[in-house]
Amino acid sequence: MRVSITQIKEMKQKGEKIAMLTAYDYSTAKLIDEAGIPLILVGDSLGMVILGYESTIPVTMDEMIHHTKAVVRGATQALVVGDMPFMTYQVSFEDALRNAARFIQEGGAQAIKLEGGESMAETAKRIVSCGIPVMGHIGLTPQSINQLGGFKVMGKTPEAAIRLINDAKALDDAGVFAIVLECVPEPLSKLITEKVNTPTIGIGAGKYCDGQVQVISDLLGLYTDFVPKHAKQYVRLSDSIKQATADYISEVQTGTFPTEKQSYAMDKSVLAKLEKST
Ligand code: KIV
Repeated sequence: MRVSITQIKEMKQKGEKIAMLTAYDYSTAKLIDEAGIPLILVGDSLGMVILGYESTIPVTMDEMIHHTKAVVRGATQALVVGDMPFMTYQVSFEDALRNAARFIQEGGAQAIKLEGGESMAETAKRIVSCGIPVMGHIGLTPQSINQLGGFKVMGKTPEAAIRLINDAKALDDAGVFAIVLECVPEPLSKLITEKVNTPTIGIGAGKYCDGQVQVISDLLGLYTDFVPKHAKQYVRLSDSIKQATADYISEVQTGTFPTEKQSYAMDKSVLAKLEKST
């Protein structure tokens, strides 16, 4: 049985920490699903870690749907959340509803995520009222990177901290099932987590959130352009990939690959006939 938003919400009540990871393809989704991850986000970080864009801003709905479908094919247990790309939910409620529905109908996701607090609460409420679970995202919201002036910790002044608390409350009231807190000082995310009923999922927001999310490429040490302070590389696959590639090149060049083990045999009589006839 696939994890439901009710189970995610109950985890907060029971004090059980929630682990979430991003995924963008079938094979990775299948592996992390088999490892027991309850929540998978098809993040628009796709744009940076998979598609090589400089930010998440160029990511399109079609790209997100394409990768969401792949993740849903791989993950049979986890609840899959599709991340709404830049400007696919801000222009009008109609746009927001239509694009949210695409994630569910075409992509096969069970929920969507959107960035923004108070200003997006009405949009979130309308999507929820159509039967589509919504995950909020406040603090550092990468789609607003040009407005924010770079990747930095948010809510450091009293005014900014109060704005973030109000953002979280507005999303809580709008009926979202979880709120991502990105790059928020630990004491502030603790306060927010205590003040809302909705589970908070932190990334660079310290240990008091109800759950944690990491970009899979950071966790596996695959994306080396930029490693955020809040990322933990549990393994460095980038090193393994480079070493395996170098070994392969060398074995091809020296003729030590392939060996008999990687080659297919042929019946000797067939071979003899072939040699005679050619
Ligand atoms: O796109 C993404 O991967 C995200 C997470 C960092 C929460 O939004």
